[in-house]
Amino acid sequence: MNNIYESTHPLVKHKLTRLRDQATKPKKFRELVREISALLTYEATADLLTRCVEIKTPMAPTIGEDLSEKIGLVPILRAGLGMVEGVWELMPSAEVWHIGLFRDERTLKPVSYYNRLPIAPTVSVCLILDPMLATGGSAVATVDILKNWGVSKIKFVALIAAPEGIEKFHSVHPDVPVYLAAIDDHLNEIGYIVPGLGDAGDRMFGT
Ligand code: PRP
Ligand code: URA
Repeated sequence: MNNIYESTHPLVKHKLTRLRDQATKPKKFRELVREISALLTYEATADLLTRCVEIKTPMAPTIGEDLSEKIGLVPILRAGLGMVEGVWELMPSAEVWHIGLFRDERTLKPVSYYNRLPIAPTVSVCLILDPMLATGGSAVATVDILKNWGVSKIKFVALIAAPEGIEKFHSVHPDVPVYLAAIDDHLNEIGYIVPGLGDAGDRMFGT
């Protein structure tokens, strides 16, 4: 499928295996989420624009490149929070705009509870961060919010996705690329990804 990128990097595969393991405790879980998020973001940001700048090294003047786009990181609360630090380390001048959504356990539909975006967009590129893309409802709703805000360059960075969620997301927002550590087998009858890693928010925050 166009615009869906599953990492083949051995470091990502290794860290994801440790992350999935039910024996992995919250402290290690958070560390792995940060690390995998940074590795995926490295792949997801390969097309960011740069502008030429003149600098002087201790040896000579030269022309270098600076990032020229204003980047917004958009973690979906709660579990997306765990991805922010790893990505922010790579681009410390990025703004962070939180979107609060939870899945209604009965309907599996996203319910919005936090959105403080200002009226006019302050960034030109948004990286949405959420470890799990299950039914795709939360991902679709977040892209809807960002497109309505006025941002057109949007990327979705997630750790694990279900094929059902990818299909739904891609049918609504085919223009938004999705960067993943793994595409799993299926969703179970209560909307959890199998084999997945369980509930990302609970494992991250020890709840
Ligand atoms: C999880 C996950 C995604 C959502 C994915 O969040 O972090 O946001 O479910 O499911 P979907 O693709 O079916 O919408 P959850 O609603 O459990 O909230 P939490 O992060 O606060 O635990
Ligand atoms: N949210 C999670 O945290 N895990 C899943 O498997 C599905 C949704």
